[in-house]
Amino acid sequence: MKINASAPGKLMLFGEHAVVYNRPCIVTAVSSRIYVSVEKTSGRFLIDAPQVKDLRFVEETVKMFKNRYQVGNGLTIQTHSDFSHQYGFGSSSAVTVALISALAKTYQLYLSKKEIFNLGYKIALEVQGVGSGFDIAAATFGGVLYFVTGGKEIKPIKTEKSLPLVVGYSGVKADTPKIVKRLKLKIKSQRSKSQLTIQKIFNLIEKIVLAAKLEITNRNWKKLGELMNENHRLLQKLDVSTKKLDKMCQAALKAGAYGAKLSGAGGGDCMIALVEDNKREDVKKAIESVGGQIIKVNNNAEGVVILNDD
Ligand code: PMV
Repeated sequence: MKINASAPGKLMLFGEHAVVYNRPCIVTAVSSRIYVSVEKTSGRFLIDAPQVKDLRFVEETVKMFKNRYQVGNGLTIQTHSDFSHQYGFGSSSAVTVALISALAKTYQLYLSKKEIFNLGYKIALEVQGVGSGFDIAAATFGGVLYFVTGGKEIKPIKTEKSLPLVVGYSGVKADTPKIVKRLKLKIKSQRSKSQLTIQKIFNLIEKIVLAAKLEITNRNWKKLGELMNENHRLLQKLDVSTKKLDKMCQAALKAGAYGAKLSGAGGGDCMIALVEDNKREDVKKAIESVGGQIIKVNNNAEGVVILNDD
């Protein structure tokens, strides 16, 4: 029997980079999903995953399953995706989480969401070497999450509907591990004064995350927008934004967005703007006018699911 699972992509809302250094962040699962199907076969191991950028996530997941649960060899794994891996929506994490769930179901193992997260995070670290695990958490639990490094805390933030976001792609694919490693080197190699500056920036980002958590629950978009702008300014200070992302954020603000910021590691990928309904079209046009591409995607989406559950 073929088992089908799907897991959502993600968008970082607040706290990127600081979350790698024991601070919290806020992430949302998005409506774009990755679909994985798993079927037991006799003998052969086959992966048909044309849209998966890095097959090591799939291979490492299967390897870990075999080592931990002594499951068989014969498997056919197929994937398809709602979105391009270019956007930085976390396709590798979504594939990993969907595959863990599908494999667990295939071999009749019961794994709790926390166990799925722990396994997924281990696999991500194995493959990438760096990362907080926020993307694995979004793919696993879904919704809007308050998340602390490595899953020390993973708490849903109550928000009835999705947040009124406009998402713009900068046209450049970001290399997240490279940017994270670069910042790590900077922290290590710089003299104590600059190290202190970066730690201070992380502390300020942490404050923003805590305030944002509250304002999301309150649905106070004006306040939340201001917090986005502040967070973006701090990311600029960390030197991870780009001219294009800055331009897109400025254009969104000028067209009436409550706030705008880059989302994720920086160096490319997407920016997000918080926008009142009656300004959405203006903001979209403004982002496009500086060369951004609007991505149609909703947020606060459901976490991993088995699609043919009995
Ligand atoms: O580039 P993205 O969307 O995968 O986000 C990376 C966020 C970082 O905080 C920079 C890294 C991490 O693993 O938390």
